[in-house]
Amino acid sequence: MQRQPKSLLVTGGAGFIGSAFIRYVLQHVSYCAKVVNVDLLTYAADLQNLKEVESDPRYVFAQGNICDESLVEALCKEHQVEAIVHFAAESHVDRSIEDPAGFYQTNVGGTIHLLNVVRRNPGIHFHHISTDEVYGSLGSVGCFCESSPYRPNSPYAASKAASDHFVRSYANTYQISTTISHCSNNYGPGQHREKFIPTILLSCLHKRPIPIYGKGINVRDWIYVEDHVEAVLQILEKGKKGEVYDIGEGVEMSNIDLLHLIIEEYAKAFQEDAATLRSLITYVPDRPGHDYRYAIDGSKIGRELGWSARFDFVEGLAKTMQWMCGSLAEKVRG
Ligand SMILES: NC(=O)c1ccc[n+]([C@@H]2O[C@H](COP(=O)([O-])OP(=O)(O)OC[C@H]3O[C@@H](n4cnc5c(N)ncnc54)[C@H](O)[C@@H]3O)[C@@H](O)[C@H]2O)c1
Repeated sequence: MQRQPKSLLVTGGAGFIGSAFIRYVLQHVSYCAKVVNVDLLTYAADLQNLKEVESDPRYVFAQGNICDESLVEALCKEHQVEAIVHFAAESHVDRSIEDPAGFYQTNVGGTIHLLNVVRRNPGIHFHHISTDEVYGSLGSVGCFCESSPYRPNSPYAASKAASDHFVRSYANTYQISTTISHCSNNYGPGQHREKFIPTILLSCLHKRPIPIYGKGINVRDWIYVEDHVEAVLQILEKGKKGEVYDIGEGVEMSNIDLLHLIIEEYAKAFQEDAATLRSLITYVPDRPGHDYRYAIDGSKIGRELGWSARFDFVEGLAKTMQWMCGSLAEKVRG
């Protein structure tokens, strides 16, 4: 199956990964004549991430809520949308612990409303962006794959798991065309400062305490955001209707090892003293229910669609540091 949608609707395109996807499509995909971005512009959005494409005649921005079916349907009709790529979500686990209901409303309710639009317009393909966190937590060995059981542990993961089930059920019940992807932890330019890697970088820059949960032993599998959006594009173009693809690079690190690596790289990049930066590390009480380890077996998407990651971690980190700290570092040093 080869899909080449001429008109795409992207939800949450002013967020971290959605904006990277829009930039990538407009810069690399010649068959795509229109990209419509529907985003509510919550605290997590940043239109600066779209600065380089905002005057592109193929780009349309609509501020709105994915729960507003009539708005989404009108946009689909007006722009003859052939595929929806659904990134919009509440995405921060800590916030989900404070306010589970808000996550239910956006992540589950919002997805159902979008699926209703597709159900009434069955020519539209729906790609759902999910997360490896739906699978729960691993021990020190093994990996998640597409057939792993769902065992979400945080309200965020539970809301994403529920949204996945609705996508599957609509595909089965109403015969709409869907694909789902589960990706590991992303990092890169444009990420909100509340997330772990931006927090470390900003703390190094401003010489303030670098918080780390518990003993820092939790393990995550990291992927550079541009590798993720390339994988999403491959699924959109070549993914089989009804299929699920897991996306990961196999870059596993404990949080404390990641923190030490970032400090080393930061010190090298900005000629600072690594020992001084290390003295900023501050252990804080662990997140309730903190999953111990995530790891993704990304071999299916490699085997079936030919995707592979292009960026190694240090290279991706250098790009992230340059985006986050480059100009700011000059300012701070005067
Ligand atoms: N960040 C990661 O490491 C990661 C990993 C795997 C999967 N994901 C998934 O990828 C997707 C994007 O994540 P992100 O990190 O870019 O998130 P983000 O928080 O940076 O961006 C989310 C965007 O969605 C928008 N939004 C929120 N509620 C909305 C609503 N009701 N209507 C319209 N727009 C709304 C926000 O304004 C924001 O621009 C999410 O679905 C997330 O679950 C993220």
